[in-house]
Amino acid sequence: MVGAGQLARMTHQAAIDYDVELSVLASSADDPAVLSGATFTIGDVDVFADLAGAAAMGDVVTFDHELVPAHHIRLLEQGGHVVRPSGGALRFAQDKLYARRSVAAFDRPAVAVPAFAPASSAEDVAAFAERHGWPVVLKARGGGYDGRGVHVLAHPEDARRLLGGGGGTEAAWVVEEHLDLAAELAVLVARRPSGEMATYPPVGTLQVDGMCRELTMPARLPAAVADEAVRLAESVVERIDAHGVCAVELFVTADGRLLLNELALRPHNSGHATIEASVTSQFHQHLRAVLDWPLGPTTLYSPAATVNLVGGPGRMDLARRLPRALDVPGAHVHLYAKSPRPGRKIGHVTALADTLDDALDAARAAASLLTGE
Ligand SMILES: Nc1ncnc2c1ncn2[C@@H]1O[C@H](COP(=O)(O)OP(=O)(O)OP(=O)(O)O)[C@@H](O)[C@H]1O
Ligand SMILES: [Mg+2]
Repeated sequence: MVGAGQLARMTHQAAIDYDVELSVLASSADDPAVLSGATFTIGDVDVFADLAGAAAMGDVVTFDHELVPAHHIRLLEQGGHVVRPSGGALRFAQDKLYARRSVAAFDRPAVAVPAFAPASSAEDVAAFAERHGWPVVLKARGGGYDGRGVHVLAHPEDARRLLGGGGGTEAAWVVEEHLDLAAELAVLVARRPSGEMATYPPVGTLQVDGMCRELTMPARLPAAVADEAVRLAESVVERIDAHGVCAVELFVTADGRLLLNELALRPHNSGHATIEASVTSQFHQHLRAVLDWPLGPTTLYSPAATVNLVGGPGRMDLARRLPRALDVPGAHVHLYAKSPRPGRKIGHVTALADTLDDALDAARAAASLLTGE
């Protein structure tokens, strides 16, 4: 697995159950999956020799993040490595402009996306806003996560401040209409090379400053919208020929439209509640899918909610606070062994209960006991 963050750490936990040896390419010896005991090499994804060295340790190469140079993935594939998801599929998560353009061209079924345009200058942004109105959302084509690289611009001056005067020849940005959102969803679909797919019920996601903070599973949605979200997600995953777990992030607009936001081709924050609430966790499912093993049932045992633990400005003594959080009935705590820098996801709490409201109350209570907020 390329990357050794919390997703690799939790994939490692699942790998232990199947006696699969997970080797991770870590950037440092205190990455979360190294601290959990996965076999590791330390290297830089931008250095092909490091990536190739890590790939040589396994039968299948997969990813905990998509910030890997596309030409390095192509070289691995050309060198005969089994890469799942493939570089071609992963590109949908690496390049927001490529993803928007490609998905907008899908037909039968067509998939709606926000109005968008490539942008390389403040003038490009202003021209788009002339047609679609301010504010607009400006997104870096690649390299962003947790809302980094996503900017809401209210005036032409905002665009000038961010992009400066001139523009490059190649568009480094995508500008899109600022949607009035009623909700955000994620649908996790697992797909194996033989074609079998397994889809989890849509998850409701709540973002604060572009970062996911709370999740409810299943999402609070009319059944018809949930069904449409599942159909849409499955059609996209098939269309891009993804292998492994793929998270399809969707927008529900205030006027009732369902639009594709973005794709992540790996286990995803929105699926953390599957560890306790689903018959098969997303991490077991990802391993089964990339190894082309039979997929597991995605049935929910119970409504569940997850609250992410995010580092704040002060010191956080999680170890001291943990016992009190564990006292909250129904709460399951996951700590990632990351130093709590501001804005960094350092853990999560999932709670199961008979209703989503009760699950969310319990997860919030345990999370605030841990962070002291
Ligand atoms: N066109 C839009 N209109 C309104 N809000 C938007 C729009 N695009 C993005 N957002 C908000 O910004 C958040 C982050 O956007 P996006 O998912 O594209 O970025 P990201 O940083 O790649 O996210 P992730 O953390 O999922 O990797 C979205 O979840 C949504 O809340
Ligand atoms: Mg997103």
